[in-house]
Amino acid sequence: GGLPRFANDPMVDFTRPDHRAAFPAALAQVRTAFGTTYPLFIGGQEVMTADLIPTVNPAKPSEVLGQICQAGIPEVTRAIAAAKAVFPAWRDTPPRERAQYLLKAAEIARRRAFELSAWQVLEIGKQWDQAYADVGEAIDFLEYYAREMIRLGAPQRVGNAPGELNHYFYEPKGLAAVIAPWNFPLAISMGMASAAIVTGNPVIYKPSNITGIIGHHLMEIFKEAGLPAGVFNYVPGRGSVMGDFLVDHPDISLIAFTGSMEVGLRIVERAAKVYPGQPNVKKIISEMGGKNAIIIDDDADLDEAVPHVLYSAFAFQGQKCSACSRVIVLDAVYDRFTERLVKAAQAYRIGPSEDPANTMGAVADAAAQKSILEYVALGKQEGKLLFESPIPQGEGYWVPLTIVGGITPQHRLAQEEVFGPVLAVMRAKDFDQAVEWANSTRFALTGGIFSRSPEHLAQARRDFRVGNLYINRNNTGAQVERQPFGGSRMSGVGTKSGGPDYLLHFMDPRVVTENT
Ligand code: SER
Repeated sequence: GGLPRFANDPMVDFTRPDHRAAFPAALAQVRTAFGTTYPLFIGGQEVMTADLIPTVNPAKPSEVLGQICQAGIPEVTRAIAAAKAVFPAWRDTPPRERAQYLLKAAEIARRRAFELSAWQVLEIGKQWDQAYADVGEAIDFLEYYAREMIRLGAPQRVGNAPGELNHYFYEPKGLAAVIAPWNFPLAISMGMASAAIVTGNPVIYKPSNITGIIGHHLMEIFKEAGLPAGVFNYVPGRGSVMGDFLVDHPDISLIAFTGSMEVGLRIVERAAKVYPGQPNVKKIISEMGGKNAIIIDDDADLDEAVPHVLYSAFAFQGQKCSACSRVIVLDAVYDRFTERLVKAAQAYRIGPSEDPANTMGAVADAAAQKSILEYVALGKQEGKLLFESPIPQGEGYWVPLTIVGGITPQHRLAQEEVFGPVLAVMRAKDFDQAVEWANSTRFALTGGIFSRSPEHLAQARRDFRVGNLYINRNNTGAQVERQPFGGSRMSGVGTKSGGPDYLLHFMDPRVVTENT
């Protein structure tokens, strides 16, 4: 008792002078910390390694933010040993007490919100509002999972047979490997890690090296919250050196992963193998890609649809698994919609996210840039280029905001996740075809529809098979508790982060029956 009901952290509000002023101040403050070498954190100890990877500003890669120590096999082994040592005590720590650490961490993250946002602007190129939203979501996960664990922590009485007392309760699975992406570098990491921790599973956390500093700040938050040594271990490393070793390790019981389908499926496959001495069948929580569509019906309100589609497709350079990458437009409005879409896209300003006048920034790294540019070229072959924005000259991982028309389901641009600001436009002859095309990929993550027809909305609710369907609004930015997030098919294994079932994936249920 005593805990107020969960509420989402408020968004940043740039009509407030204090919020407006906080960003430049935080950016300047963060710059003074450039050049730091970030050690690993294992069993409550900082661990330096000789192998370092620099993390850079994607809008200006010559600007090095810091150096991330890389774990090799010895460090991963040490982290697993530290987690294993603390597991019995952490498992037996009352759920309510574990939840307190998350509430403390939320408080710390709230205090540091602008600083944590500024790091994201510089380390991964998020626009100010996008960066702050990520920090807010991280706070939400902490607050929400703390309450969820308190709810699930109390043993439930089940059945009503006379002479019998049945208790149903949960216990943690064991050691959790948390393998996180760079695109929501605090929120997704925090979501997976805090869920594992609060349910009683010590964590070996591998952040993306591209956002290793933000990963380090996450560790600092848990450290300041006073988590016992070994419960949270920060172990960045090269996937090629330690990725398989971590996944294959017999002492790992649970792997929480968010990232590409290729890596997700590789983890699923490798984790299926049972090694001598392995205590558990490994549980996989895998959130993967999307090829998300928004349907524009012939009676859609285009004043609404155009800006929402643009935001869904191009905010944070389209680098969200939830982003819209296909817009399926009914024939009757195709020309009108695309004309307006392109006009509105022309207003985008592309440049460093540090300057709030820019609406689109650089993409994550050179590899992302190369892959996206290949898809831009492919789109020009497969369809008809409707718009390609100019890009800044000089250094930076720039790609154009690109809109390609005339795409149909057999095109690669209709099937493969680009993970960048490339939008395919498809012309559907009628609503049935639009729904069929919407479902015509391997993925099932988010979807959207703009329509004023009750029949079509009902049909979409029933037949547009995605994890998160949004009606008459953008299809990114799921909020903890209000839009539990995640997909099925090749988008994921049906776990919903920020929802009422999420923590259950991190635990095993037990029943004790007493003959009374
Ligand atoms: N949860 C994010 C969104 O909804 C994606 O990871 O945009």
